[in-house]
Amino acid sequence: MSGVGGWAVFWWVILPYLALATFVIGHVWRYRYDQFGWTSRSTQLQERRLLKWGSPLFHYATFAAIGGHIIGILIPESWTHAIGIPESTYHWFSAAAGTAAAIGIVIGVAILAGRRLFVPRVRATTSPVDWLALILLAIVIVMGIIETVGVGLLGGGYDYRQSVALWFRGLFAGNPDVKAISSAPLIYQMHATAAWAILAVWPFSRLVHAWSYPVWYLWRPFVVYRSRKAAPPNEPGTSGRRWRKIGVPY
Ligand code: HEM
Repeated sequence: MSGVGGWAVFWWVILPYLALATFVIGHVWRYRYDQFGWTSRSTQLQERRLLKWGSPLFHYATFAAIGGHIIGILIPESWTHAIGIPESTYHWFSAAAGTAAAIGIVIGVAILAGRRLFVPRVRATTSPVDWLALILLAIVIVMGIIETVGVGLLGGGYDYRQSVALWFRGLFAGNPDVKAISSAPLIYQMHATAAWAILAVWPFSRLVHAWSYPVWYLWRPFVVYRSRKAAPPNEPGTSGRRWRKIGVPY
């Protein structure tokens, strides 16, 4: 980290670690003290027509974008080079797949944000921390889409795998490349900063629902449902009773 200012170290090393610590400790705290509040606070009962389309579209497109982050940020460029994928091929793949994901995210967010803002019953369920998380999410999404579509697809491209990715992976390896992220274009810096802010807010918002996906449904025992048929007729010779003495013939 030689040659970088104290401010840069604060912004690109200390703040990310503080956000990560808040993320971890915040979840432990929330789990211990507010397990009954650990929920997405679903508004399906308030409104379901728009939610039915907006929610899957937003979530599936976001999963695709997360997949893109794993490929582009966590996997080193040298690895994709080693298996014969040049930067130009990676660039066009990420621009095309990222733009497809971006379209899904934009339409999904438009539906979800529209319903949260304009359906009074849904708006009434939104707490201040939810608004904060939503605003940060909007910043991250808008900046990310400018990077993917504005820079990657329509602009000249930017090899963030040689800067942003080095710094990001370095945070987890104990040697973050502060110089690399400090010289990245502002839009990438804003995207990453807002992402850390979301991480810090996450445990205190309805975003905790992300960790409660009911995967255990896959191996839980079956719940047996039986149709309700008409009651069986009375037993013969019991004159209306549904029982008979043991050992007494019909
Ligand atoms: C510090 C963590 C993060 C880093 C370093 C980062 C970095 C990047 C980079 C470099 C791109 C451009 C990808 C390209 O053009 O191929 C991007 C796009 C994007 N990012 Fe992030 N990101 C981070 C966290 C997040 C988070 C938490 C979210 C939101 C939930 C997010 C959502 C997006 C979206 C929606 C796009 C554009 C659309 C797409 O990839 O399909 N990012 N990010």
